[in-house]
Amino acid sequence: MTKPATAPRRPEFSSGPCAKRPGWAVDALENALVGRSHRSKPGKAKLKEAIDKTREILKIPADYRIGIVAASDTGAVEMALWSLLGQRGVDMLAWESFGAGWVTDVVKQLKLEDVRTLTADYGELPDLNAVDTDRDVVFTWNGTTSGVKVPNADWIADDREGLTICDATSAAFAMDLPWHKLDVVTYSWQKVLGGEAAHGMLILSPRAVERLESYTPAWPLPKIFRLTKGGKLIEGIFVGETINTPSMLCVEDYIDALNWAEGLGGLDGLIAKSEANLRVLEDWVAVTDWAGFLAEDKASRSNTSVCLKVVDPWFATLDADAQAAVPKKLAALLDAEGVAYDIGGYRDAPAGLRIWCGATVEAEDLSALTGWLDWAYRTVKAELA
Ligand SMILES: Cc1ncc(COP(=O)(O)O)c(C=O)c1O
Repeated sequence: MTKPATAPRRPEFSSGPCAKRPGWAVDALENALVGRSHRSKPGKAKLKEAIDKTREILKIPADYRIGIVAASDTGAVEMALWSLLGQRGVDMLAWESFGAGWVTDVVKQLKLEDVRTLTADYGELPDLNAVDTDRDVVFTWNGTTSGVKVPNADWIADDREGLTICDATSAAFAMDLPWHKLDVVTYSWQKVLGGEAAHGMLILSPRAVERLESYTPAWPLPKIFRLTKGGKLIEGIFVGETINTPSMLCVEDYIDALNWAEGLGGLDGLIAKSEANLRVLEDWVAVTDWAGFLAEDKASRSNTSVCLKVVDPWFATLDADAQAAVPKKLAALLDAEGVAYDIGGYRDAPAGLRIWCGATVEAEDLSALTGWLDWAYRTVKAELA
């Protein structure tokens, strides 16, 4: 079995932290405000620049607040859940492990009483038309571990009474987020923009702020989650006065990524690039005889975390352990060849591969990868069959 002649120039296809932007080097951080207080004038200016550029590129309405918070996307989601929920019933949506994690939080930790859980298996979506947006709703825009996204937000009423809390960490900068349908949006820097991990983004609609200022949860909130003081929103958080100390290196890197995104044409450019990346894999899946998408429905197939399953009839004859071993061997072989890193499926997901197609990845690298995927599959099959 001959190896393909060309290899991806950059073998980074991880679903997080994702590949850095093309051309990135450590000197992108040259102007980082290190060794200085984040509360100094230039420190606050950097943080505000990150917020302002975020608003511009993501086309976030002027009346939405944007905050930089601790503990990455998880930190931002937890802040929202613990600060906002409990005022009314909540519909929890889960179709892969991250959504399932938020369900656990709400049911087992917050122990809310009026919870409806709408779930679906890996590869599918729950019935979105069954969601009641007069209740609060918690959902993941793109299920990173199954490669299934919501196709749109048409199922969210414009005149809803509840709040929609959307974990958009693998969707922001790659998919259109209709802001008027979303009350809380969170994401992290290390996903679509290939930034550095540490901080989360928490974006609030005016209605989310209204909830914060009119409702106090029955449970205590640690300082790191507190968004209000004396019943009023702490506005400083949303102009760069972070609750605790951020990494100014990470902030600089995020600003660098935003500048790169701007140069690519902003959000539209990022989305177009990611969708073109997905098309490379779709064209290959259409002609390959062993791989298929975990998300069979094209409308809800992720254009960032693309999850593949093995559809070769030989594979179906294997027992569960042997099946689980196949994608592991594929990923290990490609890793050893230095052509693809971190493409094994998520530990809780069905056995398969996951290939990141966000805008920091180049289509020509994905194209080169497909030849290697075929080579690796034939090699592993020959070994096992
Ligand atoms: C949908 C989703 N939610 C939450 C997380 C957790 O993000 P973080 O590690 O930034 O807290 C991830 C990370 O992959 C994710 O993909």
